[in-house]
Amino acid sequence: SKDGYDHFMLKEIYEQPDVIKKSLDNKFPHGKLNLMDQSFSKEELLSIETIYFTACGTAYHAAEVGMRAMEKLLHKKCQSEIASELKYYQPFIDEKTLLIVVSQSGETGDTLAAMREAKEKGAKILAVTNVVGSSIAREADKVIYCNAGPEISVASTKAYTTQLISLYALAIDFAQKLNCISDQDVEKYIKELYTLPSKVQELLDHREKYKDLAEKIKGAKSIFYLGRGIDYLSAKEGALKLKEISYINAVAFQSGELKHGSIALLEDGLPVVCIISQENLVDKSISNVKEVKARGAYALAIAQKNFKNVQEVSDDTIFIPETLDIFTPVLSVLPQQLLAYETSLALGNDVDKPRNLAKSVTVE
Ligand code: F6R
Repeated sequence: SKDGYDHFMLKEIYEQPDVIKKSLDNKFPHGKLNLMDQSFSKEELLSIETIYFTACGTAYHAAEVGMRAMEKLLHKKCQSEIASELKYYQPFIDEKTLLIVVSQSGETGDTLAAMREAKEKGAKILAVTNVVGSSIAREADKVIYCNAGPEISVASTKAYTTQLISLYALAIDFAQKLNCISDQDVEKYIKELYTLPSKVQELLDHREKYKDLAEKIKGAKSIFYLGRGIDYLSAKEGALKLKEISYINAVAFQSGELKHGSIALLEDGLPVVCIISQENLVDKSISNVKEVKARGAYALAIAQKNFKNVQEVSDDTIFIPETLDIFTPVLSVLPQQLLAYETSLALGNDVDKPRNLAKSVTVE
């Protein structure tokens, strides 16, 4: 049931503080990281040379954030590829590869196919999935469950944030087993992860403004999403969310790449959503906002709350609570989910069942 919410999507957005907490409690029983048989042993990890991430759609966007977290904690280059591509191109996958597969349903045809192909080549497989007993869960060597509960809305929301939590736990687990991080850092990460449910709640408590924002953008024929580094990964997820339920052409760009061509598309009133959550990139990102404003665009910033001067250069600003850099996507995605929801609603679309889409895509 929708528990009094108008749509499953909204209900699932509002479940996030709760399911993030559940997901954390599953991976950090009594506040200590313990993935038990959901992860590999130190010996197994030592035999792995390459870590690869694969998935489709929203799950891929989570996988890419997971990859960045893994790289940061292990000081090691990792790789990622869209599943429908990886299925047909994997000359680099062998028995020294670990493939991390992310899938809410655990039944996505492309993801399953890429995973089977890699398994055939001897790769180890770790799945991050939400559905117990799904095909992907059954065929993987190790499985981490997201604990999001059933996700009914086609547009994925709580699955994404709990995939992130699962991938962060995995990165900390590997880093700890491989002696890449200190005990203090492990403590610091765990402590910060546990602040996320209330920070998410704080964002959800201020829903009013999204109706107005949706009114401002609903007539646009296209919308840009900009971000640098991990903010770009969050922007990609925001753009997909808007696209699939509002049917407006939403495209994400790495902020710095805009000037190399796509800036030609900027015109009066074109909405540009700018994600600005990273301390070391804030000045550069502010220049990007000015750049798009100078071309008459409407700039909507989603910025970390300490970056007060973002507000001075943007038309509208939504502030998100502060957290560690790698965890920011858990927070920056929320305004983007609500914006997509309200825009879809304002346009009179079927929010939970967007056209041409199915909840689980089992065909390749
Ligand atoms: C977007 C969305 C899709 C799925 C993708 C993968 O909101 O739901 O992009 O994320 O089809 O699905 P799973 O995670 O079930 O493998």
